[in-house]
Amino acid sequence: MPLRVVVLLSGSGTTLQNLIDHIARGALDARITGVVSSRAGVYGLERARLAGIPAATVPRKAYADDAAFNADLWREIRGMGADLVVLAGFMSLITVPEDFHNRIINVHPALIPAFCGHKMYGHHVHEAVLAFGAKVSGATVHFVDDQYDHGPIILQKCVPVLDDDTPDTLADRVQAAEREIYPQALQLIAGGRVTVEGRRVRVR
Ligand code: GAR
Repeated sequence: MPLRVVVLLSGSGTTLQNLIDHIARGALDARITGVVSSRAGVYGLERARLAGIPAATVPRKAYADDAAFNADLWREIRGMGADLVVLAGFMSLITVPEDFHNRIINVHPALIPAFCGHKMYGHHVHEAVLAFGAKVSGATVHFVDDQYDHGPIILQKCVPVLDDDTPDTLADRVQAAEREIYPQALQLIAGGRVTVEGRRVRVR
């Protein structure tokens, strides 16, 4: 039985597409059993439809608070049959139920714990890296806890920051790293090779 994955997104779904493509060419032993978006009408939902993956929308802005939103969100996730929840440009705070501790992963477009946290997403991250003058950036895959971009780190990949970089050119380089390490991390989990002790993640 391949690992059953539910993907959560809020936007264009390039991260979802990368996972769909890896599975299609046999490079990832997982099955995406569902996609949930926290925003209506985003292209990520269309990508799910084109790939024949069941999709649902739980619009964050329709809820008064995180608790009410998460109640419906988790109803959808559980209904789709998830072994693992994969955040793919998901811009809302997810609460982690006891039975999903270390069963939710996220990719962040920087080397956490730098340039991360609430409101640090997408281009804001790359602008902050350039403004600070950092010489390296990269991508991080980590387990999700109850804080933004905070849980135990599974994989990181560095990229250089070049003198003539703009947020766009840096984003391209970081996203290439994301496209490499996110499916890689998933494959390690699918193969049962990942163990977590506190904040330390070990790959066997
Ligand atoms: C990705 O670059 C991902 O690193 C970032 O959102 C983008 C999603 O793109 N995630 C975060 O910033 C999380 N803090 P997509 O919607 O096209 O998949």
